[in-house]
Amino acid sequence: MLFDLVRPAIFALDPERAHRLTINGLKALPPGTPPGSDPALATQVAGVRFPNPVGLAAGYDKDAEVPDAMLGFGFGSVEIGSVTPRPQAGNPKPRLFRLIEDEAVINRMGFNNAGAAAALSRLRKRAGRPGVVGVNIGANKDSEDRIADYAKMTQLMAPFASYLAVNISSPNTPGLRALQDEGALAALLDAVFEARGGVGPPVFLKVAPDLEPADIDAIAHIAIESGLSALLVSNTTIARPDLASPHRIESGGLSGAPLRDLALQRIRDFRKATGGRIPLIGVGGIASAQDAWARIKAGASLVQLYSALVYEGPGLPRRINEGLLAAMQREGYSTIAEAVGSE
Ligand code: FNR
Repeated sequence: MLFDLVRPAIFALDPERAHRLTINGLKALPPGTPPGSDPALATQVAGVRFPNPVGLAAGYDKDAEVPDAMLGFGFGSVEIGSVTPRPQAGNPKPRLFRLIEDEAVINRMGFNNAGAAAALSRLRKRAGRPGVVGVNIGANKDSEDRIADYAKMTQLMAPFASYLAVNISSPNTPGLRALQDEGALAALLDAVFEARGGVGPPVFLKVAPDLEPADIDAIAHIAIESGLSALLVSNTTIARPDLASPHRIESGGLSGAPLRDLALQRIRDFRKATGGRIPLIGVGGIASAQDAWARIKAGASLVQLYSALVYEGPGLPRRINEGLLAAMQREGYSTIAEAVGSE
């Protein structure tokens, strides 16, 4: 595979620089139409038709620079962001680390992004193009009213988003994850739904994997009460399982293979806590069709990935989709929806 040949050259570069060069290269591609997916892979979540269940997770395309190029690799959806109202620089560099021995990543980017206006102008330009493009929204680090930031982002982005993902689970903005607490979360979601108005894209909530059982029950309860359309489970972890790479000492959120079992367990936990009443989107450590299939059978209606792209290359979404089709045939499922939660 071509990617296997170029991987050493990419890995010789600083990770953030490699990412920037890749995005710049992708921006130079002519915008094509997303490749078709086998109809058996299509699935409807919150009224949105996803042509296949494998999405690109937030953080790869923070500023909506390359959603169409990423759809072109066979992703069934692309989540841009996190975008905050005002541009912000994020944390000092270095802030992104490859843990090669662990097939993992640690990041403490801190919501670096070009701000709402920049993302909006790109989304406006692609309006009307095919493809599911969700917008992941965040709050500025120095904001005096974070809930107002989410409300503002909702209002701005709703017209251009296939869905909105409210991200309160980044470990790299101090205090952000406190919005997962019961009272704060209810107030936040009220503000988001008020800002969206009666009609608009479905609202998803992205949670951390580092939650106690009581937190999970509380979030599940509020999710159902408030009318959330899906839970994204999960963001990166602040936990440090056994890791081999020298970068294991870096602070930030850990993603990739070492997150897989924890994120899978959290899908099971949320499936149980919600009684299957809210669709779940499985994120964290998915690197193969087997991982994606296990997540779906544990209760995920869709999956997303980011870190595995670093190690497996851009052919990964297509390979996962092929493997999912094979698994469906092998086990006698004719749709993805039938397999959700079937373990
Ligand atoms: C992320 N992730 C992320 N999530 C989010 O909601 N907003 C963001 O801005 C970012 N930024 C970001 C940057 C980098 C460099 C990484 C590696 C990750 C989290 C990401 O969407 C996902 O939830 C986790 O990475 C777990 O999935 P993987 O990477 O193990 O497939």
